Amino acid sequence: MAVREVLRMGNPLLLQRAEAVADFDSPELYALIADMEDTMAAMHGAGLAAPQIGVSRRVVIFGSKDAESVNPRYPDDDHVPYTILINPVITPVNDKMVDGWEGCLSVPGLRGVVPRYEAIRYTGFEPSGKPIERTVEGFHARVVQHECDHLDGILYPMRVQDFSRFGYVDVLFPNLDVPDA
Ligand code: NI
Repeated sequence: MAVREVLRMGNPLLLQRAEAVADFDSPELYALIADMEDTMAAMHGAGLAAPQIGVSRRVVIFGSKDAESVNPRYPDDDHVPYTILINPVITPVNDKMVDGWEGCLSVPGLRGVVPRYEAIRYTGFEPSGKPIERTVEGFHARVVQHECDHLDGILYPMRVQDFSRFGYVDVLFPNLDVPDA
């Protein structure tokens, strides 16, 4: 379909709570998802939420369609299956939090350490309306929490606690990288 402009931090649309999707299996929904897929692929993102392209709906995409290969930019990350997740609900498995570096397509050039639940159960729906239910941990759990935060108007810098671990990616990691999502 089309690569859309990714809104950057400072745009008030990124601070809104997105609305639930009511109509599954609709041309409008599939068109939105196609634009999100094209945009995430063009930006080499680990994930994307609909509000990042200015659509205030509870739709996120994340992961990789290629089950065998890991993204060469992020070879140390666990493989996350490609997922379209609509109207998601996250439930932490327990209270354990872990720190990890995050980036965001809406916050280009920066990275920060963000505490997230180590393990979560998440539910939601595929575009067809079929339910999704998974229990995940690690990078998969982090990506889902990051993307679903976008649906509630939360950007990862709003969760940074230690600003000594927040900065420009080319300064922090001249040779390494972590995903933008
Ligand atoms: Ni993001």
